[in-house]
Amino acid sequence: MSDTVRFGVSLSMDLLDRFDRLIKELGYENRSEAMRDLIRRKLLEEEWKAPEQEIFAAVFLVYDHHTMSLASRLLDLQHGSYAQVIGSFHVHVDRHNCMEVVVLKGPGAEVRELADSMISLKGVKYGRLNMGTTTEMVH
Ligand code: NI
Repeated sequence: MSDTVRFGVSLSMDLLDRFDRLIKELGYENRSEAMRDLIRRKLLEEEWKAPEQEIFAAVFLVYDHHTMSLASRLLDLQHGSYAQVIGSFHVHVDRHNCMEVVVLKGPGAEVRELADSMISLKGVKYGRLNMGTTTEMVH
């Protein structure tokens, strides 16, 4: 942490009060840690927009176990993009529903396309792509 710098931020008392209440609710120990997370998130959000940027992400799916061939279509999509699929985790939620988390890595545009093609399949009741981080930030 030898390259750490300190800087001042000017803002209204009202905004600072609201910020302090929020970070307390979220469990932050101090403003610096909260600010670091905000800055990292904003930088990541900008990087995610670049289609060629390598990212890690996870697709969260809840789907109907009884919808004909849905599970095999989901598997076909994953095998067709095996380079982007790191792994998956399947849970049988109840008699009718499955939940699956598929972890992806690759250029943002390809990850998004694969996620969209899974989420839009008929029988998927809930689907969401959660962008994780960039490979650059991990290294
Ligand atoms: Ni299942």
